[in-house]
Amino acid sequence: MFVILIAAALLAPAYSFYTCDELSFCSNIRYNFDGLSFTLTNIQIGDAVTGDLVNDQTAESFQLKFVALEGDTFRLTVQDSDNSRYTPENDALNGAPTEQPLTLVSSSDELYVVSAGDNLVNLYLSPFHIEIVRDDQVIIEVNKANRLTINTGDDDQSVALDISFPVANAAYGIPLHAEGLSLSSTGPGGLSSYRMFNVDYGSYPTNTRESLYGAIGVLYGVSSFSITSGLFWMNGAQTFIDITNEGDGVDSLFISETGALELFLFAGPTLQECVRQYTALTGVTALPQYFTLGYHQCRYSYMTQEDVETVVAEFDNHNFPMDVIWLDIDYSDGYKYFTWNYTAFPDPVGMQNNVLATGRKMVAISDPHIKAEEGYFVYDQALEQDFFVKNPDGSVFEGVCWPGLSSYIDYFNPAAQEWYGELYLLENFPDSTLNLYIWNDMNEPSVFEVDELTMPGNLSHYGGLQHKDIHNMYGFKQTQATRAGLLKRDPTKRPFLLTRAHFAGSQRYTAMWTGDNVASWEHLRISIPMILTESLAGMAFCGADVGGFVGNVEDELHQRWYQAGAWYPFYRGHSDASTVRREPYLYPDDIQARIRSAMRVRYVHIPYWYTLFFEHELTGDPIVRPLSYHYPQDEAVLAIDEQWLIGSSIMAAPVLYEGASSVTTYFPGGDNEYWLDIANGNVYIGGASYEIPVDMDSQPYYYKSGSIILTIQDEVRSTEEHRDSSYVMYIFTDADLQATGNFYLDDLESFDYRNQVYLYYQFNYDGENLSVESLNGDADYDREFTISEINILTPAVPFSEIPIKPTHTVIDMNIAFGKIKAKTMINLSS
Ligand SMILES: *[C@@H]1O[C@H](CO)[C@@H](O)[C@H](O)[C@H]1NC(C)=O
Ligand SMILES: *[C@@H]1O[C@H](CO)[C@@H](O)[C@H](O)[C@H]1NC(C)=O
Ligand SMILES: *[C@@H]1O[C@H](CO)[C@@H](O)[C@H](O)[C@H]1NC(C)=O
Repeated sequence: MFVILIAAALLAPAYSFYTCDELSFCSNIRYNFDGLSFTLTNIQIGDAVTGDLVNDQTAESFQLKFVALEGDTFRLTVQDSDNSRYTPENDALNGAPTEQPLTLVSSSDELYVVSAGDNLVNLYLSPFHIEIVRDDQVIIEVNKANRLTINTGDDDQSVALDISFPVANAAYGIPLHAEGLSLSSTGPGGLSSYRMFNVDYGSYPTNTRESLYGAIGVLYGVSSFSITSGLFWMNGAQTFIDITNEGDGVDSLFISETGALELFLFAGPTLQECVRQYTALTGVTALPQYFTLGYHQCRYSYMTQEDVETVVAEFDNHNFPMDVIWLDIDYSDGYKYFTWNYTAFPDPVGMQNNVLATGRKMVAISDPHIKAEEGYFVYDQALEQDFFVKNPDGSVFEGVCWPGLSSYIDYFNPAAQEWYGELYLLENFPDSTLNLYIWNDMNEPSVFEVDELTMPGNLSHYGGLQHKDIHNMYGFKQTQATRAGLLKRDPTKRPFLLTRAHFAGSQRYTAMWTGDNVASWEHLRISIPMILTESLAGMAFCGADVGGFVGNVEDELHQRWYQAGAWYPFYRGHSDASTVRREPYLYPDDIQARIRSAMRVRYVHIPYWYTLFFEHELTGDPIVRPLSYHYPQDEAVLAIDEQWLIGSSIMAAPVLYEGASSVTTYFPGGDNEYWLDIANGNVYIGGASYEIPVDMDSQPYYYKSGSIILTIQDEVRSTEEHRDSSYVMYIFTDADLQATGNFYLDDLESFDYRNQVYLYYQFNYDGENLSVESLNGDADYDREFTISEINILTPAVPFSEIPIKPTHTVIDMNIAFGKIKAKTMINLSS
């Protein structure tokens, strides 16, 4: 009983956050909308549509602009007559989008019809609303419910708009929430809205619509029977979203506290196309260094240099792989970032070099709160140059965070950004080395002891901005500065940066994780839809703390989390200061063995992960994907978020329930697709669910038929040793004995790949011969790699019962691959 009470206390947050109904700007829009309507007048149709949008009640007039963009995308902007409303376009967008001319199809007193590509756009003048039509169906409706609102009072500058997806039967998106993949309805009936307002919400509850650390206004109306389309609500202010999803399409209502009305529409027609359309606008995650895909070991905090070096040594002693060891806030002198506590860390350079000598990297935390202490060089310099966020009266804002009273850098000032980034240069960050990468935390920003644990909205930023205009972008701007600084520090290597707060476009600068989760089964399960949703919103490099940050983790849960987390893009174990130490080597042998084997599954597949990250940079496709990404017409997969795809060839379906003796797993793809459990050779036919028996050693994942996957089976201490490894190839054919797979390799760390210094091959197997050809004839990398073993696995045809053993051919061979220009054939039939 006592234990249960402690657990409950840990889970109950000591603070509360607002709902829409508690904030007048939002509740007014949510409930008082009778009689609202707008009329579009003075329409001009050139390459874009422009006009005056007039509020029928107040006669206030706004400027409307509607443009078509390349790639079945549209942009609607509504501004004040003096263009004074803030838009995040220079930050969220990856450069100015390429416009595409619109063609006038017809016009009348009621309706203008324009076209772009395969899409027609109906612009209704009064009441103003828009329909996007594709394949003779209305796929998106804008302002059909007349909820467009633009408030112009001194105290209320809010904007709102309704957007519907009439042919959708699920809604995905608007991270970050601790919610399922398929978003639940907030209406009708007044459940609280989804909120986007970055806050430091430690031990957050699961299955809620409350705000967490990130805010990305991308929403997909997913359809298993028709066209999937989407939207991006580009606004830096606090935003609430209502979603109605009662079977007859998906309706949404976006309400933002301030800002211009900036809406992008994606005409799909698939979820994959929508995600590519969104990442075409906001950018992709650049290929990270190879080591970042290994396992990361973190703790709040490793308190001393000796502690750090001991953890690394114990990982080696116990044969656990690890690529990075992390320093939380206690490495610094009194939480003054860019300094060291030399009592605890007497030789930081020696430590970083010792870790490097074992083939590992380090990451140190660096938060945006700057201790308000004269003599602290960061504080002094920022104060002198006027780089801090200000109170309404112009004085420097001070709030409490880890170091006590602190001020906060105003990253909206370009000079402050540049200066801050340069703090990461080796000459400015004493005793740092190039082996130290960075973690920006607490950047919502977190401010202790105040309402909602963050800055008040009336603080002022550079350029006349109020904090409330850009609240959700604060962490984004910090990571933008940090990445620029890391690139200056070492222009030859790809930076690694992790953030907690994030916004649309953050993927261009940083990886993210889901913040201070809890060591509970609910949190293990919710981590998956959180990661899938972030992935669909561009944040390709994402993860959740393995083990759960807050609270002691039970042994069974911990093992299961290592097994599941091996399939997160970002794989890090982390734990709170008050928890019992939980490094894997501290466990009894049987548990160690299971954690080791879970981590090994990760390391075996890193060549595959790395190829996916390269392909993400090319296409925008996420690394991890919900099943509906590749099986869009299968209604059964729409809400599945306890299993997921890594690329298109591997499906993870780990154990996520306490005491489980089986896992119900759905195999997509219909009866022409087969899924292979490589651990035991069982094959499952697609289009059905199976009860898969499991024990504590089980970490179920499946290769899809028709795939070729290159793995590294060597037991390594870190990915550094992968440089010398040969590859083991798995060819799992389809029923016609065909298989294909891509493989990417470069120097694992530099930007030379941007000059085409890499190998990018496609392997094809036709039942007899394996061919390999370069997917980019211009790419070249002077390196050989060896495939030491090729396993050809063919499902037995015809299938009689499930599970069945595939025919299993192992061919011992040693093929050295180098630069392949023409197609190379290897006969495997002998
Ligand atoms: C520095 O580390 C020592 C040793 O762990 C500790 O006692 C001390 O409180 C730390 N100093 C600061 C300012 O955190
Ligand atoms: C700024 O906002 C804070 C928090 O809401 C409030 O306490 C304060 O009075 C405001 N200051 C001004 C000058 O409006
Ligand atoms: C495999 O290669 C051999 C030798 O080049 C060729 O004779 C044979 O037709 C090929 N098989 C298939 C299925 O293409």
